[in-house]
Amino acid sequence: MSTNSTLKIVPKPSSKKNSGRRVTVPDITNRKGGEPVVSLTAYTAPMAKILDPHCDFLLVGDSLGMVLYGLESTLGVTLDMAINHGAAVVRGSTQACVIVDMPFGTYQESPEQAYRNCAKVMIEAGCSAVKIEGGTEMAETVQFLVERGIPVMGHVGLKPQSVNVAGGYRAHGRNQDEAAKVKKDAHAIADAGAFSIVIEGVVEHLAAEITRDISTVTIGIGASAACDGQILVTEDAMGMFTDFTPKFVKRFAEIGDQMDKAAADYAKEVKARIFPADEHCYGKK
Ligand code: KIV
Repeated sequence: MSTNSTLKIVPKPSSKKNSGRRVTVPDITNRKGGEPVVSLTAYTAPMAKILDPHCDFLLVGDSLGMVLYGLESTLGVTLDMAINHGAAVVRGSTQACVIVDMPFGTYQESPEQAYRNCAKVMIEAGCSAVKIEGGTEMAETVQFLVERGIPVMGHVGLKPQSVNVAGGYRAHGRNQDEAAKVKKDAHAIADAGAFSIVIEGVVEHLAAEITRDISTVTIGIGASAACDGQILVTEDAMGMFTDFTPKFVKRFAEIGDQMDKAAADYAKEVKARIFPADEHCYGKK
């Protein structure tokens, strides 16, 4: 009998369930190879409150620019938007680790610029970590931040802030050169000290290979179940958009349809003077 067949892999338990405290960055680091890390995006306090009991971390993604503000891309998100939404998510949650995405143009110029803006976000939003997009070109910055007390989550593969260079949103790693680049990026960011790396929109075998080869926790979005955890944009997962659903998204609910029906019912009742009824009025029995 081989030694392997007698080995039982005991998954590391989730650090948060009923622990009564907020999940920390080291809690997430310790989940490598254990129970998958669960995460969703959140931009507001009420949404954070609903998602908090179910998630190890909540990401205040710069996707908020497109989801909440109707922007064409994430590029128009400002530092103030990230801080204000980050603070709202911290206020709305008590258990999940809150991570804020650094907006385009607030960290790419130099390690010093990145430190100044990341520190401002951490102080003013009260979050536990920041996320920055980029590979080898951002490694020096990641190391600079981590050595100075700022926990960094990386983001490789499809990088939405680079949409204008890439010419659109598409899966990465389909050819050897592209796969080699994504691998190099992931290794560089891991070696620089990131506590976790989002791998977005890459072919399955590449995400699996990176997850196997680096000791940093990988979080997949459109990158297969091989990653150490998963993230989705909450509004995608809840079915709040009726126009387009990316291939990697599963709609776990159809909240958009429910809201459409509820709004139609409300309008009908207001027009028919059915709402408000007596029980909704003050001074009426
Ligand atoms: O901005 C965002 O929401 C993200 C996640 C989808 C990873 O970066």
